[in-house]
Amino acid sequence: MRTASIIRIILLTGLAIIAASGQVFAETLADTTEPLALRKIMQDLGKNMQTIIDGISREDWELVEKIALQVADHPQPPLVEKVRILSFAGSNVSKFKGYDGKTHDAARVLAEVAAEKDGHGVILAFSELQNTCLACHESFRKSFQAHFYGQFK
Ligand code: HEC
Repeated sequence: MRTASIIRIILLTGLAIIAASGQVFAETLADTTEPLALRKIMQDLGKNMQTIIDGISREDWELVEKIALQVADHPQPPLVEKVRILSFAGSNVSKFKGYDGKTHDAARVLAEVAAEKDGHGVILAFSELQNTCLACHESFRKSFQAHFYGQFK
């Protein structure tokens, strides 16, 4: 084999390796910027809250009860993500879980009041529920986004 051919092969192999590692790097970067499953769960919670408001306007207490129960039993992120979130919360983990628990409880109360068709009670319970959402957002949203999304948010 001529020296020129050997050099060409070495160069091509080198280029292939560089291209492959670039690909790996790009994928790693994509992983870090991809939204967590929690964001989709939150977006669905946001939609649920809008549906509840619509139900209140129509005095459709069955709808309010049904959706409040969906909020109370909202899906959880996959286990691997849960571990990442809990490790992010670190020493504040019980605070984070506590906020989540308050949201679940408030949603359950809302469902109960809606079952009694108590309109004013529903509005009160709904605002209590909103307060539990806000409490966690005020405490954790900023640091959560900085931790998981950094400047890529
Ligand atoms: C235990 C903490 C916690 C509770 C309780 C909580 N959230 Fe969130 N929520 C978060 C965090 C953290 C984010 C930021 C997620 C992100 O940016 O990926 C967020 C973001 C959101 C967003 C924005 C999603 C987006 O597209 O940026 C919505 C909407 C939302 N939450 C709705 C709700 C509603 C409605 C409730 C109450 C029924 C609620 N959340 C309760 C932690 C919580």
